[in-house]
Amino acid sequence: MSDFFSRLSRRSFLDYLLGGGLAALAGAVLFPVLKYIMPPAIPQAVQNDVVAGKVGELAPNSGKVFRFGNKPGLLVRTPAGDYRAFSAVCTHLQCTVQYRDDFKHIWCACHNGHFDLTGRNIAGPPPRPLEEYRVEIRGEDVFAIRQS
Ligand code: FES
Repeated sequence: MSDFFSRLSRRSFLDYLLGGGLAALAGAVLFPVLKYIMPPAIPQAVQNDVVAGKVGELAPNSGKVFRFGNKPGLLVRTPAGDYRAFSAVCTHLQCTVQYRDDFKHIWCACHNGHFDLTGRNIAGPPPRPLEEYRVEIRGEDVFAIRQS
């Protein structure tokens, strides 16, 4: 061991030290980048139904935003009292849409997009209808169900 230190010059010791520091720095920079690029081991579960609200929670001619997985959904109670559910992601530039009781339909505040109560784009820049979910009432819960 002492033989090793006696052969190790000051310059080569500094070279080892600098090389080790650079390797540690490269690892600290590359590790997060590689973790970001590589997909997770467990894929995200696909959710096909969710409780969008409670029966009686919404008055006729109103709506509420709920979470459907990692995206917003919109539950609407029409002026006639029916329930409708849609993806709340606008088909124009992905803003969250809302129900407007004064318009009696769905509206996107970002660029004044309008959708009727079937989700059809009726005015403004949205190019496609909203994704519609099937609504089912089970007990006290109003479910929104993705249609395949
Ligand atoms: S994002 Fe909805 S109208 Fe533009």
